[in-house]
Amino acid sequence: MLVLGLEASCDETACAIVRDDGCVLADVIHTQTSLHAPHGGVVPEVASRDHVRQVSRVVENALAAAAISLNDIDAIAVTARPGLLGALLVGVEFAKGLSLATGKPLVGVDHLHGHLSASALFANGTACHVAPPFPHVALVASGGHTALYLVKGPNASQVEALGATRDDAAGECFDKVAKVMGLGYPGGPAVDRWAERGDADKCPLAFPRDRIEGFDFSFSGLKTRVAAHIETHGRPESEEALAHLCAGVRSAIVRTLVGKTLAAADETHVGAVTVGGGVAANRFLRSELARGAEARALMCFLPARFACTDNGAMIAWAGLQRLLAGERDDLSLDASTTSILPSVTRKGRGRRS
Ligand SMILES: Nc1ncnc2c1ncn2[C@@H]1O[C@H](COP(=O)(O)OP(=O)(O)OP(=O)(O)O)[C@@H](O)[C@H]1O
Ligand SMILES: [Mg+2]
Repeated sequence: MLVLGLEASCDETACAIVRDDGCVLADVIHTQTSLHAPHGGVVPEVASRDHVRQVSRVVENALAAAAISLNDIDAIAVTARPGLLGALLVGVEFAKGLSLATGKPLVGVDHLHGHLSASALFANGTACHVAPPFPHVALVASGGHTALYLVKGPNASQVEALGATRDDAAGECFDKVAKVMGLGYPGGPAVDRWAERGDADKCPLAFPRDRIEGFDFSFSGLKTRVAAHIETHGRPESEEALAHLCAGVRSAIVRTLVGKTLAAADETHVGAVTVGGGVAANRFLRSELARGAEARALMCFLPARFACTDNGAMIAWAGLQRLLAGERDDLSLDASTTSILPSVTRKGRGRRS
């Protein structure tokens, strides 16, 4: 069975062709980063327009890379929620058109369930299918969301919330801190790169341990601390000082994410942990989670770094799980800005419809 996965929920237009044994035949991603960078963040209208411009080409390129035609596809999966509404609509309407024209089944996918699924597809840097066993604890840390889940099975309905951020997402925190340091957008990769050259122990700021109980997170205080420091002392003058500041920020964010993920695994007695979302590309997060998991004899599934940010393969795989459960959508499929996963909204408000 071949599933075409289409992703256009934010600033990437992506299409992948994935086989039901987990083999990724093609994975094409067009990123809009350069369009949004001058604005310091994603501009929704600019995003939608670029998706319209790119979507046909990206799908054609994916089919060409897999050396197949539309007729060879068995189903079409598309991100239907959550995300920027105008962006989502481009993908959803395009996918409906494909479904109508080809008669192939259509499934809408929750983008966050896609991020959760990436660890099954691209685990530990390989494109072969080594899926994490159920149940496992999954951390999703992305630009818009940060949450911990107990994943009991391959479908979104089998995902239980353990905790979520009460304010900013981890990726948003990286982006905001990078902005005040003048590192541009997106900030996460830049902070990560600078941090590699620094020493968290030499960071001029001490970040207190997260005092939030349970498995919720809060990142807005950290950003405020860095902003206040820069307002008082100015931006770091030397590259060395910048590297130390970035190392301190990265260490504080990662310490919280990894600490809570491992504590959740302890409490739920699972045998494996996974991570997904753009922040999962962070080098320190990956090494710390792997180290902590090993110390507890837990299996640790890290998607390849390129598969942490938005891609079509994770959408195809999540869509395949819906198809295997006998689910499908019709042409009334609509886009929505909210996730079907529980307790994932940015302010920790839980499920909304
Ligand atoms: N190496 C890295 N270290 C830290 N953060 C990173 C790294 N690489 C990417 N990010 C962050 O990941 C985020 C982008 O991830 P992703 O594409 O999953 O988010 P999104 O799709 O915009 O949001 P969501 O998935 O919540 O809708 C950005 O905030 C970016 O700064
Ligand atoms: Mg995402």
